[in-house]
Amino acid sequence: MATLLLLLFLAAFVSAAVAFDSIPTISFDEGYKPLFGDGNIVKSNGGRNVNLELNRWSGAGFISSDLYNHGFFSASIKLPSDYTAGVVVAFYTSNGDLFEHTHDELDFEFLGNIKGKEWRIQTNVYGNGSTSRGREERYLLPFDPTAEPHRYSILWTADTIIFYIDNIPIREVLRSGAMGGDYPSKPMALYATIWDGSLWATQGGKYKANYKYSPWVAEFSGLVLQGCRTDPRLVRHPSSEEDDRCADSDAQLEAADFADLTPKKREAMRRFRGRYMTYSFCYDENRYPVAFPDCDVVPSEQEKFWKSGDVKVDWEKVLRRRKPRQRSKRRSRVAARGVEEDKKTQAAV
Ligand SMILES: *[C@@H]1O[C@H](CO)[C@@H](O)[C@H](O)[C@H]1NC(C)=O
Repeated sequence: MATLLLLLFLAAFVSAAVAFDSIPTISFDEGYKPLFGDGNIVKSNGGRNVNLELNRWSGAGFISSDLYNHGFFSASIKLPSDYTAGVVVAFYTSNGDLFEHTHDELDFEFLGNIKGKEWRIQTNVYGNGSTSRGREERYLLPFDPTAEPHRYSILWTADTIIFYIDNIPIREVLRSGAMGGDYPSKPMALYATIWDGSLWATQGGKYKANYKYSPWVAEFSGLVLQGCRTDPRLVRHPSSEEDDRCADSDAQLEAADFADLTPKKREAMRRFRGRYMTYSFCYDENRYPVAFPDCDVVPSEQEKFWKSGDVKVDWEKVLRRRKPRQRSKRRSRVAARGVEEDKKTQAAV
């Protein structure tokens, strides 16, 4: 019986893993171009690995050569280790270069930290220039993101946005009438960047980037771009012609494994959010006295959050849930000390 259970468990694990591992990856030149800091973009393995460096003189970034009218954007990312306070790595979609006041954006932002403290991950959703209504969520991670690469993915269809970390969906945003234009609707490009966010990244700018520890290198690999390619020069507001042109590609995205939130994946999402989400815009009553129409405010869940939107969590308990072999005793003590600081500084970012 135990063997059978183990086999079932392995089968489930393997099939979940295969779903992502079988997605075709591309090389840098097949889909991207430098955005800034060209000298700090280091490609290897025929452009399948791309390192972005931040040093005293510059950060670096790349951008997809085309825009995508709905898409699946994914990469394996290994974050820089050691002292990374003030360092920001971002993996996001945007059309801010084309629509200054009505841009759309979907973000993964990785916020560095002082030695021995965890990286924080933030996701965000903007639509049609809704920058005064940030839909941020922040999370801790169940693993050390500097130890090895992990896959971060953003699915964007006409009705659904799903953020994934590895094979776990961590956030789902459904298009609703109430959300209106705040749901991204115009073609977006994919961006990957590393930059100095000293002014706000780590505990509201309390800890600045310390260049003694530079260069910081974020390693990208397993690059995936899927969706309906749109030439940036031809991007206009949404139109029915554009919808027709992209219908096949949209159907493909919606039929893909990563668009299918099975009960099992939903359960994994619920578990992840219950354990690792540290901030939700839905519970930030200080900033947003009136909850967003797309927030599903559950009283039993709301009790777990301060009015600042930060979770009333036992940080040490959260950190202990990480695989113990990834953390030495010394590191645990350092982390625990960081946790104390964190309690004092509620407004983390
Ligand atoms: C987006 O914003 C512009 C300018 O505020 C407005 O005219 C337009 O109707 C909005 N679009 C949607 C889809 O809400």
